Amino acid sequence: MRTQVAIIGAGPSGLLLGQLLYKAGIDNIIIEQRSADYVLGRIRAGVLEQVTVDLLKQAGADKRMNEEGLPHDGIELLFKGKRHRIDLNGLTGGKRVMVYGQTEVTRDLMEVRAQEGLTTVYEASHVQPVDFESDKPKVRYEKDGQVHEIECDFIAGCDGFHGICRASAPQDKIKTFEKVYPFGWLGLLSDTPPVSHELIYANTERGFALCSQRSATRSRYYLQVPLTDKVEDWSDEAFWEELKKRLDPEARANLVTGPSLEKSIAPLRSFVTEPMRFGRMFLAGDAAHIVPPTGAKGLNLAASDVGYLSQAFVEYYKEQSEAGIDRYSEQCLRRVWKAERFSWWMTSMLHNFPGEGEFNTKVQEAELDYIVHSEAGSTSLAENYVGLPLV
Ligand code: FAD
Ligand code: DHB
Repeated sequence: MRTQVAIIGAGPSGLLLGQLLYKAGIDNIIIEQRSADYVLGRIRAGVLEQVTVDLLKQAGADKRMNEEGLPHDGIELLFKGKRHRIDLNGLTGGKRVMVYGQTEVTRDLMEVRAQEGLTTVYEASHVQPVDFESDKPKVRYEKDGQVHEIECDFIAGCDGFHGICRASAPQDKIKTFEKVYPFGWLGLLSDTPPVSHELIYANTERGFALCSQRSATRSRYYLQVPLTDKVEDWSDEAFWEELKKRLDPEARANLVTGPSLEKSIAPLRSFVTEPMRFGRMFLAGDAAHIVPPTGAKGLNLAASDVGYLSQAFVEYYKEQSEAGIDRYSEQCLRRVWKAERFSWWMTSMLHNFPGEGEFNTKVQEAELDYIVHSEAGSTSLAENYVGLPLV
């Protein structure tokens, strides 16, 4: 088999890249180690920046998002028992975010790909990028007991944090930067109406909490938990009781509880790989970087990476120019590091850090007080939250 771009991984970055390339007339095949249902079963991000919304439109996968997504003009910060609104729209000259789940984004991208009859190989094992430092790269994999090889011009490593692409990069040419946080997020999805119209990010003495949503009838909540906790330790009742304790009286009174549809714990990590290109292999999304979820940036960074990468391939094939692919890593990393900084800052300001003591708590409260009462402070949060412009 031969294609122009072989994409490893059918998460949001691989599927979006595939669709953007197809729209630009560039051939691609996606190789994914799991089944489509498994990929769709992972409940993750929920907030899309305008840049991501625009790319989904460009990919022709925006119909259901436009009908069912929830545009949000603000968020609320809860600390010292009171909520304060950040007017995202007013502070950014009219920008907003779209609340629409990663599962739905993935499903929409899978559907348009299937409609166009494009090839995705699911349940491929032993996937391996080969010869990417030559001008004849290949992807090798096994399926139904047989070894297959795809010859290509380029490999896109869209295979997430635990993928094979970053792991295959030459060790003397790669540098990684990492920060691991001493807690995780326990998430719960339920068919209950959201506690409030807008998202609430709460700093409390019992730890961080986030009230998010997927629709008028489906909610997503998160609690900061110790890394040692297991999902099995948390009954639905225990989750709701703890969440109530971390809310303000009005939200507590409004909270509708119900059985969980899904519950999982995610560790929090900051991680960046430099560079994001190794010869003819390009890393994108979680394969190259991880942010703690507090700033809602993971999925959005994955989308902006593949926005840059698709543009670079268009320049290569349509204008015979390598300028885009040569610029790719540096261009992405400038944006990535700003999102890393924002996500680290939101995480530092909103969580309870074991062992940091009361001085840390007082500084967090002062910072939150400054952010909500200073236009400069609120604007800085707002412009990062809605997403910095592409450069
Ligand atoms: P992924 O979604 O990880 O997709 C990579 C794909 O590659 C997967 O389908 C995987 O099966 C496949 N793959 C892996 N290895 C191979 C291989 N060897 N061969 C072939 N295929 C392979 N972000 C937020 O903004 N908010 C959140 O609340 C949030 N929660 C999260 C919770 C968890 C548990 C995790 C892991 C991430 C969370 N994120 C969140 C981050 C966000 O979901 C990711 O940034 C986003 O999924 C990145 O998309 P991706 O396509 O780059 O990677
Ligand atoms: C969601 C997740 C986040 O990390 C975040 O900051 C906002 C919303 C969510 O899953 O809805």
